Amino acid sequence: MSATPTHAHPSATGVDNAAVAAGRRIRSVYVYEAPVRLWHWVNATAITVLAVTGYFIGQPPPTLSGEASSHYLMGYIRFVHFAAGYVFAIGLLGRLYWAFVGNHHARELFTLPLLRRAYWREVLTMLKWYAFLIPRPSQYVGHNPLARLAMFFGFFWLSLFMVCTGFALYGEGLQAGSWADRLFGWVIPLMGQSQDVHTFHRLGMWALIVFIIVHVYAAIREDIMGRQSIVSTMISGHRTFKE
Ligand code: HEM
Ligand code: HEM
Repeated sequence: MSATPTHAHPSATGVDNAAVAAGRRIRSVYVYEAPVRLWHWVNATAITVLAVTGYFIGQPPPTLSGEASSHYLMGYIRFVHFAAGYVFAIGLLGRLYWAFVGNHHARELFTLPLLRRAYWREVLTMLKWYAFLIPRPSQYVGHNPLARLAMFFGFFWLSLFMVCTGFALYGEGLQAGSWADRLFGWVIPLMGQSQDVHTFHRLGMWALIVFIIVHVYAAIREDIMGRQSIVSTMISGHRTFKE
């Protein structure tokens, strides 16, 4: 980056050196506000806990000797799953609220310009970039167009699916007539019967795990190759650009 004069005046050619210098200095943009960043990491932790405990709900560890009620192993696993389920669901509601009151990047997770040709062109460019077919794509202040596509379908809608199926199963435990049964009970006949909901809920976990693997790979790859900050942006909120 060139040195920045502190005493710049409009030059003889009419170019405002001060403005040019100031423009050059803009290397950082505030993108993700604190609630979005906090939510991101709380949400990532809740999902990790949900995936581990959920895995063991479906594939329980070998039976322990003694009374089940005295060691209460599956009881604790299920309790932690449900507690993390509440954190996940309430977090998603809070994140949705922030889409209305936060900056415009806060809305990117929930909206997609599906009908804009330019958007799809950019998605294609990003795909080529990830496939190592082009040297350097555009840089984006918020999420890139391909990331938005993955987050909209692979995270947002999938998360709603996990909340609906999860609370439908939870309603079975709380019994007929409970709030969870009244709000989400309809999911069970829609999918067939309880076991089908278990199966789809479990399948949803694997789909989410695929999203996470691709997401973390893309975030780290973009941080190294994209000449802009990515991972630290979700920590500090600022996106910084390199020359
Ligand atoms: C990222 C989100 C979630 C993941 C990855 C996840 C994962 C899982 C998995 C793998 C199972 C076992 C399914 C089976 O094979 O039977 C399960 C069961 C279950 N999950 Fe989730 N879950 C998530 C969200 C939720 C939420 C939000 C709730 C709501 C409280 C919830 C409640 C339940 C219930 C009630 C069961 C059945 C427990 C049992 O039958 O003992 N889950 N979950
Ligand atoms: C369970 C694991 C995770 C899930 C479900 C997840 C989900 C998400 C979602 C939904 C967003 C969009 C945020 C928004 O607009 O509000 C996001 C952004 C982001 N995540 Fe994650 N994330 C996970 C783990 C991670 C990890 C481990 C990293 C770090 C390596 C990471 C780095 C990022 C970054 C850098 C962004 C911003 C990307 C950009 O600016 O385009 N995430 N993540």
